[in-house]
Amino acid sequence: MSSIDSLLENNRTWSQSMTSGRPDYFRQLAKQQSPKFLWIGCGDSRVPANEVVGLMPGELFVHRNVANLVYPSDLNCLSVVQFAVAVLKVEHIIVCGHYGCGGVKAAMSSQHHGLIDSWLSKIKDLYVRNHESLDSIADQETRSDRLCELNVVEQVEALSRTSIVQDAWYSGQNLAIHGWIYGLKDGLINDLGVRVDHLDQVPEHYRFQREG
Ligand code: CO
Repeated sequence: MSSIDSLLENNRTWSQSMTSGRPDYFRQLAKQQSPKFLWIGCGDSRVPANEVVGLMPGELFVHRNVANLVYPSDLNCLSVVQFAVAVLKVEHIIVCGHYGCGGVKAAMSSQHHGLIDSWLSKIKDLYVRNHESLDSIADQETRSDRLCELNVVEQVEALSRTSIVQDAWYSGQNLAIHGWIYGLKDGLINDLGVRVDHLDQVPEHYRFQREG
């Protein structure tokens, strides 16, 4: 069997295992989704969102891109955030980066990687802004891991500055944004402690004023 066929075979086995003992499982799930969490993570194949936090189908809304970036001009990412927040009413947005991120490493180097260099420009800017503290870290891996952490914090801030998230807070919706980072070497998530769940935490200049 070729490897691509084995995926379909795996799928049949999985579907059967999910319905053994609960024949209605997929029919019930198909009626609606009501996830409480939105995950914004890296596309890296070693960080499968649902698996690392032990959530079942229907429990986690997921958006992944290279290096878990949130650009205010990214229609794809912002549409996911808008749908998750305004329609699904998720209560938590988790930005989860990971140590050893290839996107972060690429942004730190001056090597040309093609179109992806444009996507990663946000991390390059972040690196330049923090180069003094980062360059004082002698070990290269530790240095890039620190930038992985800073990148997560940056994306948490970017989300808190969107009108989508601020609209939710203005309307009294419970919504917290979390910054986490996953370790490829131990499978453990580290909470970076940068939770933002209220408009007061957003610097004034980035708060959209509302009437009344
Ligand atoms: Co990555």
